[in-house]
Amino acid sequence: MTETPLLRVEALTTRYGSRTGCEDVSFALWPGEVLAIVGESGSGKTTLLNSVSRRIEPTSGTVTYTMRDGTPRDLATLTEAERRHLGRTDWGFVHQNPADGLRMSVSAGGNVGERLMAVGRRHYGDIRQVAADWLERVEIPADRIDDAPRTFSGGMRQRLQIARNLVTHPRLVFLDEPTGGLDVSVQARVLDVMRRLVADMGLSAILVTHDLAVARLLADRMMVMKDGHVVEEGLTERVLEDPQHPYTQLLVSSILAV
Ligand SMILES: Nc1ncnc2c1ncn2[C@@H]1O[C@H](COP(=O)(O)OP(=O)(O)OP(=O)(O)O)[C@@H](O)[C@H]1O
Ligand SMILES: [Mg+2]
Repeated sequence: MTETPLLRVEALTTRYGSRTGCEDVSFALWPGEVLAIVGESGSGKTTLLNSVSRRIEPTSGTVTYTMRDGTPRDLATLTEAERRHLGRTDWGFVHQNPADGLRMSVSAGGNVGERLMAVGRRHYGDIRQVAADWLERVEIPADRIDDAPRTFSGGMRQRLQIARNLVTHPRLVFLDEPTGGLDVSVQARVLDVMRRLVADMGLSAILVTHDLAVARLLADRMMVMKDGHVVEEGLTERVLEDPQHPYTQLLVSSILAV
């Protein structure tokens, strides 16, 4: 247990005026670990994810992130430039709606290549080659490289968003309902691509989903939220097989019933 967590969240609270988004949430994320945040609509999952990743400013509490050089930093103390740098290099963010994470009228190759340029890659031929490799990794046919994602299906868009985020080899990926907007038949392929890449790259991830089957497939550990609070936390298998909190029991029995 001498290993340092990649991320440590302590007593994180985010309010929207008098309304609570999430309250007093604490957890650690270990290198290579996938943590799912589950719970019903309005339970605070997105608020928590956005507060941890600093897309919104929490009301109180701290998030400490271990930088590549091994130094733990309180995210509140990072300069704007340091945060931007983290966002480009160490972190990925996959949105539920691909249009929020892609440039819909830029070519697929451009969407991937752009991220490489943002980390200083300049050689056009190399960038195009890496982009082509990544399209293949997410099962997008190579001959679609010059097509814009607005001409892609929902599943293809989501796989492109994954490629765009992973091409720079981030250490941590935030995923907000990555398959939420997709047909069940299309979800399977996206999940399969994601599971393979997370394992191959040894990525750490925080995954928001209301779908326990998605959590089961991808996550090592899960946290169950209700009304902004974490009501249960544990290894995915344990929580699903032996839920302790009545709310988790209800969630689990409702998926087993269908
Ligand atoms: N921008 C906002 N302004 C005011 N209240 C907000 C805002 N965003 C979220 N909330 C409130 O915070 C609470 C948690 O919302 P949040 O979006 O985090 O839930 P969620 O678990 O992600 O739900 P869903 O599964 O529907 O995406 C809700 O009561 C919501 O109404
Ligand atoms: Mg949400």
